[in-house]
Amino acid sequence: MQLKRWLTVGAVVLAAGGVAGAAPATASHPVDPSQQSLRQLGMRHDLYIGTAVDMAALADTADPQYREIVSREFSTVTAENVMKWETLEPTRGTYNFGPADELIAFAKRNNQKVRGHVLVWQNQLPSWLTTGVSNGTISKDELRDILRNHITTVVKHFKGKIWQWDVVNEAVSDPWDTPSTLHYKGFWAQNLGPGYIADAFRWARAADPKALLFYNDYNIEAFGSGDPANDKTQFVYDMAKALLRDRVPIDGIGSQGHLGTQYGNYDTIQVAAALKKFAGLGLATAFTEVDVRSQMTAGVQAGDSNEINPRLQASAANYSVLLQACLADPHCLSYTVWGFTDKHSWVPGWFSNPPEGMATIMDENYQPKRAYNLMKADLIHSGPPYVQPRIPQKPRR
Ligand code: G3I
Repeated sequence: MQLKRWLTVGAVVLAAGGVAGAAPATASHPVDPSQQSLRQLGMRHDLYIGTAVDMAALADTADPQYREIVSREFSTVTAENVMKWETLEPTRGTYNFGPADELIAFAKRNNQKVRGHVLVWQNQLPSWLTTGVSNGTISKDELRDILRNHITTVVKHFKGKIWQWDVVNEAVSDPWDTPSTLHYKGFWAQNLGPGYIADAFRWARAADPKALLFYNDYNIEAFGSGDPANDKTQFVYDMAKALLRDRVPIDGIGSQGHLGTQYGNYDTIQVAAALKKFAGLGLATAFTEVDVRSQMTAGVQAGDSNEINPRLQASAANYSVLLQACLADPHCLSYTVWGFTDKHSWVPGWFSNPPEGMATIMDENYQPKRAYNLMKADLIHSGPPYVQPRIPQKPRR
């Protein structure tokens, strides 16, 4: 059975021009799975392995390795920035689809699916929108029309080309916000009230009946106290349940998976339980932005292996926890890393005091880290009865 799968995957690999220089697999010489890419190994489980893509890096002719790795290792891609509002509609009513269309074309050439990120978020909004609202030239009624127009125009433009849309992103506060009781936060909730969430899903569905529509957020890897006043996962679960009760067309929950080695984090059993609970609502799940950062102490920066090794190992372990949990639930459809190389990662730019980094699965020279090989091992050494093929999600009407 195992051998048969290797041979099958090996045949696909060769057909896709996969492992460079690999001899054809035969019964006596099966493909060595450790030489296969993440995307090939993911397909053993129908699991899509993805990355966020930095379009400037993808276009950099001086660095062909970036492009080569995106196409070789991943079966789904997400635009790290170019599908956000400030890029897509920098001037009211004028759309700039060029960079996002380039990614779609790249994905098509490389037989990759695309996660659309993101339709509604409080960050990276164009200033015409935020300024217009703050100075009163855009009324609340007009704002709702603007949101509907943006969603409709964008989703229609990409109709048939997006597998999963992050329709609403990071709508829920964190326990360290004020007030500490969890609530709907940010620009959209403040100006339109939380009803914008249901509206956004309905408008997205009207524009593309086939895309899977996701709610996407961080710090929802596992359940905590079970009290929605302080347990963000429970808050999101209750939100999803209420949306489904109101017949809102939501198809999935995206758990971003931004972790840090300095935190306690979760184990596989806890994360798998959370995915299963969301699946119990009839929803698909996905890990959408996985990275595991570390504090860059003076020792780390000086190359002290006593400090570097535990960080590499802890980072790998956390990548693995999320991947094993995803494998354990057949409704978990994809596992996307938020960049695959420390050469292009949002982390050092974002966390500077204290400095953080080392968050991805390859170093700045594209050398695979422990995390990359552990992910491969998880994909290789898993299968029935506890790991089953993915169950496709049907878009909800
Ligand atoms: O485009 C400008 C460029 O013109 C300018 O020269 C440069 C100077 O700093 O900034 C560029 O914009 C930056 C943009 O990324 C594109 O590179 C912004 O400063 C920077 O803030 C922005 O950061 C992005 C961040 O979202 C913004 O919130 C990160 O790249 C991106 O990885 C990150 O992604 C988010 C997900 O969308 C949602 N979940 C959390 C995740 C991490 O924050």
